[in-house]
Amino acid sequence: MNKALQIALDGPAGAGKSTIAKSLAKKLGYVYIDTGAIYRAVTYRAIQDGVMLEDGPALAALISNMSIRLVPSEHGQRVFDGEVEVTDDIRSSEVTNNVSFVARQPEVRDALMDLQRDLAKDGGIVMDGRDIGTHVLPNADLKVFMTASVEERARRRHEENVSKGIPSDYEQLKEEIALRDKRDSERAVAPLRQAEDAHYLDTTELSIDGVVEAIEQLIGEVTA
Ligand code: DC
Repeated sequence: MNKALQIALDGPAGAGKSTIAKSLAKKLGYVYIDTGAIYRAVTYRAIQDGVMLEDGPALAALISNMSIRLVPSEHGQRVFDGEVEVTDDIRSSEVTNNVSFVARQPEVRDALMDLQRDLAKDGGIVMDGRDIGTHVLPNADLKVFMTASVEERARRRHEENVSKGIPSDYEQLKEEIALRDKRDSERAVAPLRQAEDAHYLDTTELSIDGVVEAIEQLIGEVTA
């Protein structure tokens, strides 16, 4: 039987990481771990509790009182804060537009590191995020850095919103994605960047199946 791999999938907002990670995990019988959801759960709770979103120590204190759980389900990953399910709440535009402020606090990143490593420790996982290959799992068996043009990422997000009946404005999405890229890649701590040993994958011109196939090929190389 093949070793249960740790697969790290990093890249900017809307590059298709979650779609690909979900599909890949299903094919491999692995668990999909969406680390962005963890930062979102903290942001949601901070907004609810009135904690300042740039107060790192206060956010770390908040995290120490939270029990964030990621529960795999047939329809993707469910997210719980203690007993409260926040799977849908963490996708609101208020959370989306504020999460980078929270994610750039060093105290927050430190406080969430162990949780992420613990989730990955037994392997058999596809973990998506921004700093998985560079910080969280520096020894991952396979690292992929996925990206796509801002226009293509906004188009995909727009289509996704429309298909879910969520109000959506393409130009606004494009601006928001560009802004989030800027904040995520310019932050001082664990900025979005490709790990030296990651495989670069530009998905602008690829279908979902095309991306999954490309990664499967890389997995074949790792396990050969
Ligand atoms: O992938 P996403 O859009 O759900 O991520 C939400 C935010 O969390 C995004 O602005 C970047 C941040 N994030 C991070 O800093 N590190 C991670 N490993 C995952 C997400």
